Order: sequence, then structure tokens, then C-alpha cells
Amino acid sequence: MSEKIQAKLPYNLYFIGFMGAGKSTVAGYMKRHYSMPLMEMDETLVKREGMTIPEIFAEKGEAYFRQAETDLLKEIAEQTNMIVSCGGGVVMRPENVEIMKKSGKIVLLTASPESILKRVKGDDNRPLLKGRKTVEGISELMEARRPHYEAAADVVVRTDTQSLKGICQEIFDRLQAE
Ligand code: S3P
Repeated sequence: MSEKIQAKLPYNLYFIGFMGAGKSTVAGYMKRHYSMPLMEMDETLVKREGMTIPEIFAEKGEAYFRQAETDLLKEIAEQTNMIVSCGGGVVMRPENVEIMKKSGKIVLLTASPESILKRVKGDDNRPLLKGRKTVEGISELMEARRPHYEAAADVVVRTDTQSLKGICQEIFDRLQAE
């Protein structure tokens, strides 16, 4: 699929992957270049709650945030042709994976712990990375999550070895080959 094309998919495209894997960046590029509507899950939850993610975690707790993610996913699943940039922890609930599988294709974005560290270094908006901003800290959490990410994914694309245009081309090529 080339640029300037308006993609119209009969399902949603869910972007999953570790924090800093490029979900928001790739999803934003797709929105601009393929004229697809974008749902940023974190951003939507922040707007709805009127709090930042660290505030939600601190004041309402992680379990509350995880339930809000599931509720939002259920709403999203009623639509089609949406690009959905998921929070990095969405795949940890089997119920969420089931919702995504039933309503779309799941694209796992990956990058090395070194690339992730570079991307998240200056950002204090991710409570789960507090005290973990080292290659070792990131690798440890990434390895614990890897089986969940890989089991959920329909296609897997690396984001730290090619351009955004190349990444999107690879995603569409792989989806077509599915
Ligand atoms: C989380 C990832 C974050 C955000 C929250 C929890 C996680 O989203 O949802 O801080 O558990 O991996 P990003 O992956 O967009 O950073």
C-alpha cells in the first residue's frame, strides 16, 4: 500500500508492545499518511480521568487503571478501521487479548532495551519504569512480558532498524500475507 492512500479496514489495528516500542509514533504516522482514525488509549484515559497516568496509579491504583483499559477496549471493539495505540500493559489481561483478537489484528512493535532506554530516558510519565531506567531494568520487565506480547501478536515488526515509512510498509505487507 502506498502513501496518500486512504486505508479502510474491516477491523481494527491494535498496536501492542513495551513502553517506548514506538506504538504512538507509528500509529500517529499511520493516521496522517493513511487517513485512518486513531485511538490513543493512554491519552483517552488521561482525558477521561482528568489526571496524568502517574496520578491515576498513585491515587486510584493500578487495578483501577487496568479495569479502565478493559472498559475502553470494549468500546473500541464496537468500531472498525481504527488504529489503536494500546498501553504497554494491555496484553497482560487475557480478557483484553480476547477482545482485540475478536475485533482486529494485533501488531507487536519491538525494539532493543538499549533503544527503549534512549526513548524513555527523559520521560517521567511511566510509573512502571520508575527506578528501572537502565538496560537491565528494562530487559527484566521486557522478558517477563515477552511471552504475553508474542502470544497475542498476529504480526511482529521492529521499530529501531528502519524508517517510519518502512515500518508501516512492512506492517501492511505482513498483514496482507496473513
Ligand atoms: C504501561 C504502559 C504505559 C501506560 C502505563 C502502564 C505498562 O503506556 O499505559 O504507564 O504497563 O506497560 P505506554 O506503553 O504507551 O508507555
